[in-house]
Amino acid sequence: MSCKEDKQAPSDDLKLRRDRFRAEVLSGLRKSQKELPSKYFYDEQGSRLFEHICALDEYYIPRTEAVIMETHIEEIIERLGPNVLLIEYGSGNCAKTRILLSHLREPAAYMPIDISQEQLLCTTRELAADYHGLEIIPVCADYTSDFELPVLKRPSARRVVYFPGSTIGNFDTIPAKHFLEHIAGVCGPSGGLLIGVDLKKDPDVLHYAYNDRQGVTAAFNLNLLERINRELNCDFQLEWFEHYAFYNPREGRVEMHLVSLRDQTVHLDGMTIPFAKSESIWTESSYKFSLDDFQQMAAGVGFKVERIWTDERQWFAIQYLVNTAGATL
Ligand code: AVJ
Repeated sequence: MSCKEDKQAPSDDLKLRRDRFRAEVLSGLRKSQKELPSKYFYDEQGSRLFEHICALDEYYIPRTEAVIMETHIEEIIERLGPNVLLIEYGSGNCAKTRILLSHLREPAAYMPIDISQEQLLCTTRELAADYHGLEIIPVCADYTSDFELPVLKRPSARRVVYFPGSTIGNFDTIPAKHFLEHIAGVCGPSGGLLIGVDLKKDPDVLHYAYNDRQGVTAAFNLNLLERINRELNCDFQLEWFEHYAFYNPREGRVEMHLVSLRDQTVHLDGMTIPFAKSESIWTESSYKFSLDDFQQMAAGVGFKVERIWTDERQWFAIQYLVNTAGATL
């Protein structure tokens, strides 16, 4: 994420993306429970803050996942087999990808999929420098949009989608199912899904993971308003909003909100958006699963859980699922 090259995407592409951003922000802020899509956290500043979050003591996810990965890498590689086409959704943090790529036996190719063109180019360049002879096929696409599978230089024995970091937790229940269904189509019959899933645990642990002492998560949350100000020419007063995150045990998710500290109005695109004191904007959900919850959701779209690797405390699980359904892209 340190790569700063290739900033200039084609300008109409940029304009389209900005229009879409504006439309999603406006529709979210006009709901009775105001909300903003969490995918917009990750601009340059947001990505930097997220990296900082990943280094916090309280935020156990990346460290726990990396330990599981390193401990069980041989078994994981065994599952993926030789000549695999590895498809990764979100080419964000390369560290775990590198553990995989370094161990894979004669991978057919690596295909990162990301909405950010810059991120893709950056990942591709960095990995190409270190993995000579590996075919890398970057695909610029939205999480759920369909795309043509390109012809590979070497045929692959199987397609495996890699989805680490418990990003699946950011989807609500129905979109999560649709996403898994989409993945089943991408990896095809007998293809696999290697996925990181954050597990239900002591709510206090979850609370501190999203309310760190240094306030980095708060800054990450507030950066969303800063980004809207910057890119959409809006006038949010950051000091009049406060980070609020809590675990909702009934829904099994951490919710992040930004709470208005006073009655105020914000202007966007000729529109006036009123905020009452204590009203919130819901900015993120981060679902936590039990192994049963997850197995059932996966089974609903034809994925069979073949193997689960977890840490000593059972805080996080890496799972290998096999597509038992017939759908192909
Ligand atoms: C990267 C989406 C999994 O939900 O835990 C971290 C993002 N939000 N702190 C998560 C996040 C607040 C993270 N994911």
